[in-house]
Amino acid sequence: MIKLDVLKKEHIPYVCYIEEKHLEETLGYEMLCSELHNKYAHFYVALDDEKVVGYIGAWIIEGTTDIINFVVDEMYQHQGIGQLLMKKIIDQSIELNSKEILLEVREKNIQAINFYSLQGFKQITIRKEYYKNKDNALILRKEL
Ligand SMILES: CC(C)(COP(=O)(O)OP(=O)(O)OC[C@H]1O[C@@H](n2cnc3c(N)ncnc32)[C@H](O)[C@@H]1OP(=O)(O)O)[C@@H](O)C(=O)NCCC(=O)NCCS
Repeated sequence: MIKLDVLKKEHIPYVCYIEEKHLEETLGYEMLCSELHNKYAHFYVALDDEKVVGYIGAWIIEGTTDIINFVVDEMYQHQGIGQLLMKKIIDQSIELNSKEILLEVREKNIQAINFYSLQGFKQITIRKEYYKNKDNALILRKEL
């Protein structure tokens, strides 16, 4: 059964593994460790038994939630785990009086864009050649 947990140090090597597998740019071990001590950081993992199968990380600061990273391991996608992780961030944001959630996504990442659209995110702008490989980024926003 899938359950959510707050990110802990022992999860981080597994989070790095999933990041490297699925994301073209990763936060990496050092940055993820530093988030453990960041009071604005809200990072959660999805666990199958004790195995990390997904994670979401956000900063909630002065009424705005910024999603930093979000990934579910391929074998576990399309099972509602992404929705579970996103709901956790939405609930946490509402509890902390956040008014909006912002994120950036590669314009070519149709799977993620479809997911965000079903979650009520709308495009507010596009940043041309935003990523290291010059991919464009869409900036999406969900009002809370
Ligand atoms: C984006 C991502 C995290 C989604 O994770 P997931 O666990 O597959 O998500 P879920 O199973 O909860 O949701 C996906 C499905 O639910 C649907 N869905 C999502 N929110 C919904 C909602 N509010 N109402 C109805 N359906 C919804 C989606 O259309 C999708 O349907 P499908 O299974 O028929 O394709 C995953 O695709 C992923 O890790 N991608 C690679 C990394 C990545 O791109 N991350 C985002 C970087 S910006």
